[in-house]
Amino acid sequence: MGVGARTPIVAGNWKMNGALNASSDLVAALVAGVGEGGDAEMLLCPPFVYLDAAARWIESTPIALGAQDLASEVEPGAYTGEVAGAMLADVGCTHVIVGHSERRTLYGETDDQVVAKFRAAQSAGLVPILCVGETLAEREDADTAAVVTRQVGAVLDVLGVDALGEAVVAYEPVWAIGTGRTATPDQAQEVHALIRALIGAQSATIAGGLRILYGGSVKGANAAELFAREDIDGGLIGGASLDASEFLTIFHAASG
Ligand code: 13P
Repeated sequence: MGVGARTPIVAGNWKMNGALNASSDLVAALVAGVGEGGDAEMLLCPPFVYLDAAARWIESTPIALGAQDLASEVEPGAYTGEVAGAMLADVGCTHVIVGHSERRTLYGETDDQVVAKFRAAQSAGLVPILCVGETLAEREDADTAAVVTRQVGAVLDVLGVDALGEAVVAYEPVWAIGTGRTATPDQAQEVHALIRALIGAQSATIAGGLRILYGGSVKGANAAELFAREDIDGGLIGGASLDASEFLTIFHAASG
């Protein structure tokens, strides 16, 4: 795994799934199975409305809590339906996903909005998990490097490389999300190395310490071979994070 200094993260993005009782059972099974946490960090990202309860379910465990999105606005105000980073921190979140491809494609989030959310997360003391990745058409047009460079570059250009010092990046090829079609370890490693090099061109130290997660149809059966690659520092897991034993298998593939 990586160059040794990077502790892997296995994060569950529940998306718009779950119900209070079922989620409580899921988290109880994860608490029972996580052990001491070992050499990896487990992070759960439930829907907003379950964050407060989830914070209590994971209290005194090594499991951390994140949200799936946040408002780009920092100051409280008349933003119906929005949730501020400070509110997420208030209920126990330490992390928040920004720029997930479902936000970008289904809700039209632009790179500028993603940068604003990244900044809002950090100003609330949260670690942003910046999602990047190409669509199938972009990959087939050999645009993967250009797309990922643009998405990471949007943050670098506006906020500077230091902003990546307290952040996580997730490479999630859109064609692999929820499709059962995983990027091969070679395909993922290639893009992860590109992302690390982009950041490394501005700061070798920040690039060397940055956790870059892979997301897109990670399962218990394919996690270990992905996580074994040099620049893959864990995973951002959708569907398989809703099944305790599957998610624990993935977690233990990262924690060794
Ligand atoms: P799947 O694991 O369901 O492919 O989802 C990946 C993802 O989008 C995580 O954010």
